[in-house]
Amino acid sequence: MKTSGQVVVVTGASSGIGFAIASLLSASGMKVYGLSRSKSTEKHDFTHIFADVTKKETLIEAATFIKQNEGSIDVLVCCAGIGIGGSVEETSETAYDKLFAVNVKGVFLTTKTFLPLLREGEGKKIINIGSVAGVLPVPYQTFYSMSKAAIQAFSEALNNEVRPFGIQVATVLPGDTKTAFTANREKNASSEGSLYAIREERSLKKMELDEQKGRDPRSVARIVFWLIKRKRLPIQVTVGFEYKLFVFLNRILPKRLVNWILYKMYGR
Ligand SMILES: NC(=O)c1ccc[n+]([C@@H]2O[C@H](COP(=O)([O-])OP(=O)(O)OC[C@H]3O[C@@H](n4cnc5c(N)ncnc54)[C@H](OP(=O)(O)O)[C@@H]3O)[C@@H](O)[C@H]2O)c1
Repeated sequence: MKTSGQVVVVTGASSGIGFAIASLLSASGMKVYGLSRSKSTEKHDFTHIFADVTKKETLIEAATFIKQNEGSIDVLVCCAGIGIGGSVEETSETAYDKLFAVNVKGVFLTTKTFLPLLREGEGKKIINIGSVAGVLPVPYQTFYSMSKAAIQAFSEALNNEVRPFGIQVATVLPGDTKTAFTANREKNASSEGSLYAIREERSLKKMELDEQKGRDPRSVARIVFWLIKRKRLPIQVTVGFEYKLFVFLNRILPKRLVNWILYKMYGR
């Protein structure tokens, strides 16, 4: 499929994976609008538009601007996301609400706002950034894992709602990726005498180390570019051989065994 000249909207484009996606697509000749609250300080060729995915009015303003300039869009990439860490028992409702406002409701509001423009376009693709944690839920990252599992369900159900309009929806599942996500993760302040403190700290430290030794965000961008070129989208793509293997093993091994392995890795 001809990709040059396609109009693409990428949320979360100021940093990490979203920045890598917006940069690669614009370098490949696509007209890219990167939506985020801040503008990247790194050199880039795509157009930044201020938008907070938790604030509907800012998304509508961005869509109005793009409609005036382009008339329609071809591809929507929902990448904006945040993480929180800590035990379920010690997570505040405020932290929970903030996470779901960005990672879940943000994807809903973005999709709702841009669907009319996407229906008018030619590419007709929605690519949502999920996570391997949505398939293999990680302790002390429970709510993050939940939010990413929600994105998979959202994408699969939506795919069948927009199929009659010729629109396809896919979820990309990155594993550990080296971005500012690690530093931006909000962690529970360990309460005095917490029963979780030691295990929680060990688990989050391991996760942080894995992320910082993780893949280059451009590896995710290359998958998104490949998806945009394809005529037919797969429902789900996992990034990287080792994560493809984990996702496959999760499908064939007994659930109890997989859950125990996750305990050994992140729960003890
Ligand atoms: N890094 C990993 O290991 C990893 C693994 C699997 C999946 N992911 C997923 O990949 C996506 C990107 O994460 P990343 O690793 O690239 O992290 P990152 O470097 O921290 O980037 C997060 C992006 O989301 C944007 N964002 C956050 N809140 C927003 C809001 N309310 N409205 C609009 N934009 C908002 C940020 O922009 P502003 O702050 O400027 O608004 C930033 O551009 C996330 O969905 C994450 O869950 C990451």
